[in-house]
Amino acid sequence: MRQHVNPLSRNFSEIERIPSLSEMYGDSNLNLHLDVGCASGAFLFDLALINSNWNYLGIEIRERLVNAAKSRVQQREIKNLYFVFGNANNIFNDVQSEFILRNVKSISFNFPDPWFKKKHYKRRVIQPELINILSNLLQKESLIFIKTDVRDLFDYMDFTISSNFKFKTIDKNNFDYSNTFNPNKVMTSREKYVMVNKLEIFESIYIKKD
Ligand SMILES: C[S@@+](CC[C@H](N)C(=O)[O-])C[C@H]1O[C@@H](n2cnc3c(N)ncnc32)[C@H](O)[C@@H]1O
Repeated sequence: MRQHVNPLSRNFSEIERIPSLSEMYGDSNLNLHLDVGCASGAFLFDLALINSNWNYLGIEIRERLVNAAKSRVQQREIKNLYFVFGNANNIFNDVQSEFILRNVKSISFNFPDPWFKKKHYKRRVIQPELINILSNLLQKESLIFIKTDVRDLFDYMDFTISSNFKFKTIDKNNFDYSNTFNPNKVMTSREKYVMVNKLEIFESIYIKKD
């Protein structure tokens, strides 16, 4: 089992320069989806190859994984996929990356690290400060998707997002995925593991009100 990376370590205080949308993508006018904590990016590779009408951006704190994913994108000449290395909390807090949040149509937090001990809750990627930034920068009707197999983490994330009055929970049971970033309901690596091991999945979808 790998060691979790401590996002509060000073190693992650510096942020790589994020290129403009037109530098990142073949067609910068396509809808943009952001996946936070994308690990090796397998989920985003699957999505980018199936849905050529969306652009995808992955943020991941493990640099080795991001470098490998970037090389694969170049080798395979994929024009609708880009990866950024760093702590998502620091990236979102940085003025140079505001344009990302202003342009995304949706964001996913799939199976974030749970950080079970209470003294480590600050290391969880979803924090009130981060949700506050999203509430100020996301376009109206942008969507946030959260998914986890840890009930306590779900409750924490759901409470943090629902406490911000600019986000409303959507009924996930009647949600139509067909026009979203993931119309085929592709699964992440962790999600496949969870399904095989018949663990429970807790998920929710939120919409930015205005
Ligand atoms: C349990 S894995 C889930 C990976 C993938 N989303 C999935 O569903 O298979 C959580 C990932 O989030 C990354 N991560 C944790 N905290 C992060 C942060 N603050 N910023 C960016 N990535 C982070 C971890 O390095 C890890 O790759």
